[in-house]
Amino acid sequence: MVTAYAPASIANVSCGFDVLGLAVDAPGDEVSVQFNDIGKVRIVEITGDEGKLPFEVEANTASKAVLSLVNHLNYERGIDIIIHKKMPFGSGLGSSAASAVAAVVAANHLIGMPLTKKELLDFAIDGEAVASGARHADNVAPCLLGGVVLIRSYSPIDIIELPVPDSLYTTVVHPHVEILTKVARDIMPKEVSMKTAITQIGNLGGFIAGLYQNDLALLGRSMVDVLAEPYRSSLIPEFQSVRNAAMYAGALSFGISGSGPSMFAFSDNSSKAEQIGELMEKCLTTKGIDCKVFISKINQKGASVMW
Ligand code: HSE
Repeated sequence: MVTAYAPASIANVSCGFDVLGLAVDAPGDEVSVQFNDIGKVRIVEITGDEGKLPFEVEANTASKAVLSLVNHLNYERGIDIIIHKKMPFGSGLGSSAASAVAAVVAANHLIGMPLTKKELLDFAIDGEAVASGARHADNVAPCLLGGVVLIRSYSPIDIIELPVPDSLYTTVVHPHVEILTKVARDIMPKEVSMKTAITQIGNLGGFIAGLYQNDLALLGRSMVDVLAEPYRSSLIPEFQSVRNAAMYAGALSFGISGSGPSMFAFSDNSSKAEQIGELMEKCLTTKGIDCKVFISKINQKGASVMW
């Protein structure tokens, strides 16, 4: 049996709606695979999902990703899948991407590593699409590869791995409310003005320059979200006061993680990252909203085989 771990990811990173994502250390999902004698892919066990995930192979992100991989390879042996769901649903932390990624990484290892990690991307995207209804890579790519990833193009898929400043810390707070990505996408306008597009392009360029120049101040001031945040922030409890708290505690930037409700802040040292976490948590708990804080550097390893 092979078990793989795939970490949470922060999609969009404020200035890169649908085209930027980064990986953090935790939370994450684990998926185990082993050969079976029936010559088919099947899910034999799911733990930690409170019965929410489907067992149908085509409808589950993990099994769909493995199916897509074995079909591509014309691989004939059957594979049993066990999903250990450890990530919250509808959290904006790339939970469905993590299951799909862990599954293909484990399956590729089980069948003798025919593909590189990067070559697994398409199959993980196929799996994630089952849950989100669209082929996004801004969670899947960083979850698989680690680091900060730019999706330069979706058609054809063109993924650029960006440099990661060593002193950067992420603090993520997950308020315990669920937001469906579909709902968070539906409330956004289908078209934007030229002014908005220019602002977005400038900030995305500034962010990427900030990574290459290791200029954290440039990174911070480039992390402005003019596309999603103006619409999505109303879905997130205490959004403005959590932002104020994070900035007060010394954050370089603050934004919505993926489609929310999780929020994240960047900072340049671990004690600030802790302080930011404490204040963000306090903002939510004093209003009676349960939440959990996760602090890490940017995860540069991505998904990996555990054993
Ligand atoms: N970029 C996507 C969105 C990520 O924000 O809708 C969904 O997790």
